[in-house]
Amino acid sequence: MRFLPQLIENNRSWADSMTQEDPDFFKKLAEKQTPEVLWIGCADSRVPANQIVGLIPGEVFVHRNIANVVVHTDFNCLSVIEFAVCVLKVKHIIVCGHYGCGGVKAATQNHHLGLIDNWLRHIRDVRQKHDGVLRIIGDDDERLDRLCELNVVEQALNVCHTTVVQEAWERAQTLAVHGWIYGLQDGLLRDLNVTINDPEEIADAYRIATDRIG
Ligand code: CO
Repeated sequence: MRFLPQLIENNRSWADSMTQEDPDFFKKLAEKQTPEVLWIGCADSRVPANQIVGLIPGEVFVHRNIANVVVHTDFNCLSVIEFAVCVLKVKHIIVCGHYGCGGVKAATQNHHLGLIDNWLRHIRDVRQKHDGVLRIIGDDDERLDRLCELNVVEQALNVCHTTVVQEAWERAQTLAVHGWIYGLQDGLLRDLNVTINDPEEIADAYRIATDRIG
C-alpha cells in the first residue's frame, strides 16, 4: 500500500536533486529535446535504457517492446523511428537486446501463450533462418545467447530496410544503425559490430556479424 506514495516521494527528491545541479534543467528540457540516439530495446524491467548508458532525460529517444523486435507493419515502432529520424534527426539508432531474454526464450518453446505467440513468431522466424548454426550448439543457455544475438542483428537489419531509414540515407542524412546486447549478469553492454552507415554496408555488415555469431 505504501509503494505508490513512495514513488511520488522518490520523484520529488529526484526532481529536487536535478534542480539543485542545474536550476534551469526542467525549464530548458520543456522547451525542446535534442537526443542523438534512438534506442530500440526490450521492455524487460532490468534493461532501462537511460540508466545503463548513463544518460539523463532528453538524451535518448526510446522505444521498447517484448524482445526488441522491429516489424515492417508495426506502426508504433515505425512512427517512433520516423519521428526520431525525420524530426529529431538522431544520428544513431541502437537496437539493444539482452541475454536471458524471456521473449526470445519463449520463442524457442512450443507452448501456446496466447496473443503473444503472433509477436514471438517473428523471433521464431529468426530461429528458423539460423537453424543450421543453432542446432549444432549442445548447451541450451549458449544456444539461447546466440539466438538473442542473432535477433539483435536481424532487427537491426529490419531497421535498415525501413522506408524511413532508406530515405534518410538517400538524402545523405547522417545516420548509423547499431546492434548491441546487454548482460543481465554483469550489467555490461557488448557491441555486436553490426554498425551500418549506408545501404551499401548492409550486406557485408550482416554477413560478418552473423558469421561471427555462428
Ligand atoms: Co527481453
